[in-house]
Amino acid sequence: MSNHDHTNPSSAEPIPLDHEVDGIREYDNALPGWWTGIFWATIIYSMLYPMYYHWGVGPSVHAELDSDMTAAAEAQLATLGPMAVDEATIVSLGSDPKKLLIGRAMFRTNCAVCHGANGGGGVGPNLCDSTYINIKAPMDFFTIIRAGVVAKGMPPWSPRYSDTQILLLAGYVANLRGTTPSTPKPAQGDKHPGAWNTFVSSASPAVPAAESTTP
Ligand code: HEC
Repeated sequence: MSNHDHTNPSSAEPIPLDHEVDGIREYDNALPGWWTGIFWATIIYSMLYPMYYHWGVGPSVHAELDSDMTAAAEAQLATLGPMAVDEATIVSLGSDPKKLLIGRAMFRTNCAVCHGANGGGGVGPNLCDSTYINIKAPMDFFTIIRAGVVAKGMPPWSPRYSDTQILLLAGYVANLRGTTPSTPKPAQGDKHPGAWNTFVSSASPAVPAAESTTP
C-alpha cells in the first residue's frame, strides 16, 4: 500500500469509538508494528541500563573518565624526555603541572581506592598532611610506591609501572602534602616540619649530618 491507510485492512469501514469530545471522534486503529517495537525496546533498555550501570558491573562515568585519563597519560609519557630518578626530580615535579596531571590520573585510577581521591586516606594513610609512616625524604616515596609495604597492605607497583611512571606518582604524592582533602584521615607516623628542601637536608640520609660535623 502506497498511501497512508489508517483503516483496519480486514474490515472495509473503520469503526469509530463511541465517545466524542467537542465534536471530535476517534478510531481504534492498531498501532503500527514498528511503533510497538520501539515502545517495548525502550522499556527493556530502561531496565537493562540501571541493572548494568547502577547495580551491576558497568563502569561509572567517573571510572570511565579516569581510565580515559590514564590512557591519555600513558600516551603522554612517551613524549616526556628522560628523567633522573632522584630527590631533585621528585621535588621539582611540584612545579610541573603537566607531569603532575599524569601522576594525578594514575593516582585516581590505582591509589584512590585506598588513599582517597584527594589523598585524604582510607585503608591507607592520609598523604596530604605532614606526617608519614615510612617517608623520611622525598626518595622514600619512590621506594615505597615501587616496592610497597606488603605486610601492611600497600601493594608494590613495580610490576605494573615503569620507573618513570613511579617517579611521576612519587612527585604527585609528595606534592599532595599541604593540600586539604575533603575527609582527612587522622595523622599517622612522624611529623615532618618545614618544606621538602628543609626536609631533605634535615632528614635525608643522603646528606649525612655526621660528615659535616666530623672535623
Ligand atoms: C590496597 C590498598 C592500597 C593501595 C591500592 C595503595 N596503597 Fe599506598 N598504602 C596503603 C597502606 C595500608 C599504607 C600504609 C603502610 C604502612 O603502614 O607502612 C600505604 C602507604 C603508602 C605510602 C607511604 C605513606 C606513609 O605515611 O608512609 C605512600 C607514599 C603510598 N602508600 C602511595 C601509594 C600510591 C602512589 C598508590 C597507587 C599507585 C598506592 N599507595 C596504592 C594502602 C594502599
